[in-house]
Amino acid sequence: MDQANRELEALLDFYLASGIDCLLETDPVDRFAETARLAERRAAEQGFRPSDRPVQGAGPAAAQSPLSRRPGADRTFPQAAPAAPVPQQGNEASGGGTSVVLPNASTVESARDAARNASTLDELRACLEGFDGCNLRLTAKNLVFADGNPEARVMFVGEAPGRDEDLQGKPFVGRSGQLLDKMLKAIGLDRSAAYIANVVPWRPPGNRTPTPQETEICKPFILRQIELVNPDILVFLGSASAKTLLGTQEGIRKLRGRWMSYSTTGEEIACVATYHPAYLLRSPLEKRQTWQDFLSIKQKLDEKRLAQS
Ligand code: URA
Repeated sequence: MDQANRELEALLDFYLASGIDCLLETDPVDRFAETARLAERRAAEQGFRPSDRPVQGAGPAAAQSPLSRRPGADRTFPQAAPAAPVPQQGNEASGGGTSVVLPNASTVESARDAARNASTLDELRACLEGFDGCNLRLTAKNLVFADGNPEARVMFVGEAPGRDEDLQGKPFVGRSGQLLDKMLKAIGLDRSAAYIANVVPWRPPGNRTPTPQETEICKPFILRQIELVNPDILVFLGSASAKTLLGTQEGIRKLRGRWMSYSTTGEEIACVATYHPAYLLRSPLEKRQTWQDFLSIKQKLDEKRLAQS
């Protein structure tokens, strides 16, 4: 490849990493109105009201702009990133050979079916690798499924991968991952004694917050992943993970440090939320409280070990 092509590729790469994943036109286009019109049309086609749609996201979490930058993102960008472009017609649109899928109730249903059918973690990973219902996979370089030990007694769940995770295909390997490793070490754990995953397994372009639709589509997979790992203890890293998996709108300040119960089929798992490591990098004063949370995790693990012996 000659120099000019390499430079062009580097520039396009930079645009993509910055979340620029659609072409700008000379006349302004209101993508929100476009999405809303499209959603209305689809709802009418499918014979239900917009409020019936499970991926509509009517709560306060949905009111938060999907374009805001994600607390878990390790890199900062001067401008918020746009969501994926919305094609004008149909459920699928072709652009440059890749197929863009519009999220709707049936996409969520197909994610549920696919996840339900996976009976091992390897099957679940393979199933995600072949799943084309989430457009994030079109801009991500790799699927970020999990890291650590699937036999571990404690499982940590973050929100979505950032740039470093996308490049390596492993969760929490950037700056926030390095902090997570230090926190694990402080309570005598490392990745051989912990299992780590994210609610959304593909990096949103430019590290933007996953949209409620993207989260809803990916949710059946993380639910199944938790079920298959079946840890003794589940730790939500940050508010997005806690809110999605607990189905609550309570803020992380109130949620963190409180032991709760997470229900999977036939199992109750002790769970706790704590601050996201990326938040701690920006607000180091909160590390003191997080340290309390980690001590409490260690204590719970010790109690459970004693009870099982
Ligand atoms: N933030 C997350 O929530 N997950 C990662 O894997 C990395 C950063």
